[in-house]
Amino acid sequence: MTPPPPGRAALGAPCARVLCPPARLGLLLRLLLLLWAAAAAAQGHQRNEPRISAVWKGRGQDHVRFDQIEPHTVLFHELGSSSVYVGGRGKVYFFDFPEGKNTTLRTVNIGSTKGSCQDKKDCENYITLLEKQDKGLLVCGTNARHPSCWRLVNDTVESLGEKRGYAPFSPDENSLVLFHGREVYSTIRKQEYNGKIPRFRRIEGESELYTSDTVMQNPQFIKATIVQQDQPYNDRIYYFFREDNPDKNPEAPLNVSRVAQLCRGDQGGESSLSVSKWNTFLKAMLVCSDTSTNRIFNRLQDVFLLPDPSGDWKDTKVYGVFSNPWNYSAICVYSLGDIDKVFRTSSLKDYNMALPSPRPGKCLPNHQPIPTETFQVADSHPEVAQRVEPTGPRKTPLFHSKNHYQKVVVHRMQASSGETFHVLYLTTDRGTIHKLVELREQEHSLVFNIMEIQPFHRPAAIQAMVLDTDRRKLYVSSQWEVTQVPLDMCESYSGGCHGCLMARDPYCGWYQDRCASIYSTQRSSMLQSINPAEPHKQCPNPKPDEAPLQKVSLARNSRYYLSCPMESRHATYSWRHNKTVEQSCEPGHQSPNCILFIENFTSRQHGHYHCEALEGSYLREAQHWELLPEDGATASHLLGHAQILPHSLWLGVLPTLVLSLLAH
Ligand SMILES: *[C@@H]1O[C@H](CO)[C@@H](O)[C@H](O)[C@H]1NC(C)=O
Ligand SMILES: *[C@@H]1O[C@H](CO)[C@@H](O)[C@H](O)[C@H]1NC(C)=O
Ligand SMILES: *[C@@H]1O[C@H](CO)[C@@H](O)[C@H](O)[C@H]1NC(C)=O
Ligand SMILES: *[C@@H]1O[C@H](CO)[C@@H](O)[C@H](O)[C@H]1NC(C)=O
Ligand SMILES: *[C@@H]1O[C@H](CO)[C@@H](O)[C@H](O)[C@H]1NC(C)=O
Ligand SMILES: *[C@@H]1O[C@H](CO)[C@@H](O)[C@H](O)[C@H]1NC(C)=O
Repeated sequence: MTPPPPGRAALGAPCARVLCPPARLGLLLRLLLLLWAAAAAAQGHQRNEPRISAVWKGRGQDHVRFDQIEPHTVLFHELGSSSVYVGGRGKVYFFDFPEGKNTTLRTVNIGSTKGSCQDKKDCENYITLLEKQDKGLLVCGTNARHPSCWRLVNDTVESLGEKRGYAPFSPDENSLVLFHGREVYSTIRKQEYNGKIPRFRRIEGESELYTSDTVMQNPQFIKATIVQQDQPYNDRIYYFFREDNPDKNPEAPLNVSRVAQLCRGDQGGESSLSVSKWNTFLKAMLVCSDTSTNRIFNRLQDVFLLPDPSGDWKDTKVYGVFSNPWNYSAICVYSLGDIDKVFRTSSLKDYNMALPSPRPGKCLPNHQPIPTETFQVADSHPEVAQRVEPTGPRKTPLFHSKNHYQKVVVHRMQASSGETFHVLYLTTDRGTIHKLVELREQEHSLVFNIMEIQPFHRPAAIQAMVLDTDRRKLYVSSQWEVTQVPLDMCESYSGGCHGCLMARDPYCGWYQDRCASIYSTQRSSMLQSINPAEPHKQCPNPKPDEAPLQKVSLARNSRYYLSCPMESRHATYSWRHNKTVEQSCEPGHQSPNCILFIENFTSRQHGHYHCEALEGSYLREAQHWELLPEDGATASHLLGHAQILPHSLWLGVLPTLVLSLLAH
């Protein structure tokens, strides 16, 4: 018999003698696969699963490995620069990824790891903060439980001494530091053992202030931002966090997600109780639920702020990633204008009297202190009654998914037509990144999951992710490496013009017979079509290219399988023999291949086999095989071998085979 050409062995190969199941077990195996595929397909969520997956191989230079394991990393990247700083264990790495050149790497050791420490972990200097300052890079770390900072200028390190509040005592603490000019805000404890209750503080700038210990219950801080308004006295600080739900009803979720507001000009109060506390604190619940299906996503994981091109702060979009107790996710989008309105207009929760004047949460001009009465009402009723709901007419999540998403960045970009798209990059708990595009269909948005990117050479959890909208790159770090991933990975789409447009990737279009990036070609002459349901209809060739015919000769009564890679997870793949469909694999089929078993090759099995992928109205032939009969002599030889294989061995091989078929 003629073996398939070596390069194609993976696509269609005769079963090795040991791997060919005997007919009855073959049937059982087929049944198992079908049941399993049906169960997977029944879970639905088609559009929210990535359409294709891609491993980012890049140039070898797009990945750089650390010289030691880095269990905690922080990234610092300046927009438009080709370099990234990574804070690790006692080190700052500096990586430069210049276009078309080799990556350069420098490391600078930071801090001494002497100090008094019991266990080894405590002696380390975990770098937890990197921040650009006019005189260089501010580097802060745990420094053997003596949080300290250094200034890094041209590879020389200058110690700034112990700096409480800039870095935690150990790296996995709930720490957030926000810089704004001379001002520094922080959630990091200043004392190692007392003052365990987390607070949001102003540690540099005007007088030091902190939040009352009663206004948050066990908060987990997510993100903080400063919003500058028309009048500087009105500038707000917003921060996002989760906390224990005060509602102890057994039906209620354990945690709630919040946004809090503070006035940047807050001076503290007049009474001894209020003097060093924020007097303008209010918090509101962030709702992310789909009331029609009763799905509630209560745990905020990450927030990304996308300013509006108009420059109006009210139109800044707040993308929140939420999860539920089963680790399913939803993305909800809010606007800063809506958040501001809730704080300015809502009554206070569980407070039924008339509000004092000025009302709680109001920022006062000319450094006026907040009257004690206003402080007392706000301090005892810090939550507003109204809740912050997602934007849009239905006030529901943008989408939800069975993936456990953790971090989000959003790129506002213009496709070749000039139309604006929001592209979301979401990290999963499996160390991959999903790229999704928000499409507007009439009133509401829908989201199309374009691809799953595996950014690392060595799969691992993503510790940090930064987006550079100027250079159109993502920088991601794991405990092993840092990778630069381009946003326009157009070479990932096969299938000619049809395959290129079906991807609906706003960075890619069909240009001069290839799927090309809008950034590397003349936009006006490229073919792009993103919104429509049937983008491939725009292609000059009305039908996609046919798959090349591959032939294989088989021995009579032998076993064989044909394997068709399921490139698009949104398509149904079918194996057709003559006119009949012999195997069908629905989206959600977790095996990466659609496999057709031929248990007994007789004259009925001769002929042409086509693997077809159907996605909406897009029908593509992915494979075409012709199975031919072979001369008798070899056939009986092979048959002889297959038949003497004892059944007990088959039973042993079967689970391995099922696993290898089911493996992603
Ligand atoms: C990059 O590095 C490789 C191997 O270290 C070397 O052969 C090559 O010339 C370098 N290329 C550039 C552009 O420096
Ligand atoms: C750092 O390096 C730059 C360019 O190499 C130089 O212009 C600058 O003076 C250096 N700064 C210090 C403080 O040495
Ligand atoms: C969620 O609530 C539980 C129970 O109150 C608490 O143990 C946990 O720390 C909370 N988690 C967050 C992130 O707030
Ligand atoms: C959800 O994810 C967290 C962290 O990734 C994990 O500790 C937890 O066990 C998961 N919960 C479920 C129900 O899978
Ligand atoms: C294959 O089919 C032939 C004829 O239909 C039959 O004689 C033979 O036993 C079958 N072989 C197996 C392994 O089932
Ligand atoms: C398919 O066609 C081939 C020849 O074209 C024929 O030998 C075979 O019997 C057909 N099989 C079926 C199941 O119709």
